[in-house]
Amino acid sequence: MNAIPYLDLSRARRRIADRLAPRWQAILDANAFVLGPEVEQFERAFAAFLDVPGVIGVANGTDALVVALRALGLAPGDEVIVPAFSFFATAEAVVLAGGTPVFADVLPETLNLDPADAARRVTARTVGVIGVHLYGRPFDAGALGELCRARGLWLVEDAAQAHGARYRGRRVGTLGELAAWSFYPTKNLGAFGDAGALSGRDPELLARARRIANHGQDGRYHHVAIGTNSRLDALQAAVLDLRLATLDADNAARRALARIYAEGLAGVGDVRLPVDHPGDECVVHQMTILTARRDELMAFLRQRGVGSSVHYPSPLHRQPAIEAIRGGAAPEPMRVAEQVAREVLCLPMFAELELTEAEAVVAAVRDFWTT
Ligand SMILES: Cc1ncc(COP(=O)(O)O)c(C=O)c1O
Repeated sequence: MNAIPYLDLSRARRRIADRLAPRWQAILDANAFVLGPEVEQFERAFAAFLDVPGVIGVANGTDALVVALRALGLAPGDEVIVPAFSFFATAEAVVLAGGTPVFADVLPETLNLDPADAARRVTARTVGVIGVHLYGRPFDAGALGELCRARGLWLVEDAAQAHGARYRGRRVGTLGELAAWSFYPTKNLGAFGDAGALSGRDPELLARARRIANHGQDGRYHHVAIGTNSRLDALQAAVLDLRLATLDADNAARRALARIYAEGLAGVGDVRLPVDHPGDECVVHQMTILTARRDELMAFLRQRGVGSSVHYPSPLHRQPAIEAIRGGAAPEPMRVAEQVAREVLCLPMFAELELTEAEAVVAAVRDFWTT
């Protein structure tokens, strides 16, 4: 059997290489590297795709979160509820913006923020919630939105892993006050370097975010706020604009692959798969399975030439940097997040993966339990 990569970015790059070359050459010829027409074109295209009034290109997804929190007026001492299971940036951004992350557990079915546990974590200092559409699966924006409305909190979406996903028919990135996007190369909509964006529905909030991302300027060399330097570069915007045109088709290809995995792995060993709400469209950023024999399975697959990866081996509340912020106090247990970190394994998943390759991965996983 040929080796099956966990991820092969070359296949995506080859698909757009011919069309990208002249656009990159035009940018180089114009010396227009930061912001400019290519960035404006992509911002318009992504806003139309999401059906929101505005998108703001920034340097990466972490900055998108930080800028969102600053635009919402996060102040020192403010608490923000975040899921205990996500990529580190979700919690890191809260600290970078001057606030305190407060962790809530995730649901065993979706691996996304548990609205009931989030509600239990609200204190007089809580100002907002960051939900993460983890692995491309929309979080329960209905329940979290209700909690936020009832308690006077804002809701920020960390949409870094969910480009094109839909919650009850609506695109994610349109469900909270602001949404943060990462276009890191491995994402469903990936650049060829670091890139990110914010989206939102409130033009005033978007204008504030745009100012913060560009040195607090409201006009050339007129600074009305302390901002930062976080701008999208034109070379990346051209890549994103080209790849956006096929994002829905690419996500459909991922879903077709996910069906092969789901059907082939049903009832195999102790394998469990996260559950999709029938009204939602997951974009399968990662093909995740859960098994108590995760490490053994990973080693077995490696021997068979099948790539896999653990996203993520530790929940956020147990990361050393977070423990340091807590000053050594023991973290509250987060039962589900801790179990997911022990059991989660991500199998090969990208739009260009062949159906036969997914079938071969399924066969290898089945062999692990039968040989
Ligand atoms: C859930 C989540 N949030 C935030 C980020 C941060 O994005 P970036 O790497 O572009 O800073 C990422 C991706 O890396 C992510 O997966």
